[in-house]
Amino acid sequence: MTLALGVLVSGSGSNLQSILDACSDGKLDATVRVVLSNKPGVFALERAARAGIDAVVLSHRDFSSREAFDGAVVEALRARGVDTVVLAGFMRIVTPVLLDAFRGRVINVHPALLPAFPGVDAQRQALEYGAKIAGCTVHFVDAGMDTGPVIAQSAVAVREDDTVESLRARILSEEHILLPAALQWLAEGRLSVDGRRVRVLDAARR
Ligand code: GRF
Repeated sequence: MTLALGVLVSGSGSNLQSILDACSDGKLDATVRVVLSNKPGVFALERAARAGIDAVVLSHRDFSSREAFDGAVVEALRARGVDTVVLAGFMRIVTPVLLDAFRGRVINVHPALLPAFPGVDAQRQALEYGAKIAGCTVHFVDAGMDTGPVIAQSAVAVREDDTVESLRARILSEEHILLPAALQWLAEGRLSVDGRRVRVLDAARR
């Protein structure tokens, strides 16, 4: 089924770009119906404009609670026929208001091998911990902070001379492969969720 995506962003939007590119390359059966940012002026909005995609800015500062903000987000997504929500560098914790509206259809990409290093600055956390392997995780979102069922992970080696920036860049390249791939599995109906365990079914076994 072609996914009708709403992509939530707060920054540069390179993951958004990887989704847009995968769609136009025929690798991802999806259309991005709307890009929604909680921050004005971010580069992700420029990427949406270049791709001719509807973009919305909803500043969380204009709302009295996370729930009120999420209510407005849900309304904006619903109005555009979104069926699947991607948090692509969206720096807000989402509430059950969003999760209940798109049950089992909210996906996040996190720049660490969860459950290690949830939350902000994951790459710095990995370096400061002294981890030798880092990476990224694509997961279903639940009400916790980076705690939902894992769909896919990709590992990168931490190099002796890595800085936060160099590690961030190497992990980001993996994110750009992993996120569109995971979304394509969802589009193909190949993700089977059993508690915390997400299985990727073979195309033949569907
Ligand atoms: C990515 O590393 C993502 O995993 C994290 O924030 C970063 C966003 O990058 N949540 P971009 O805006 O997609 O370029």
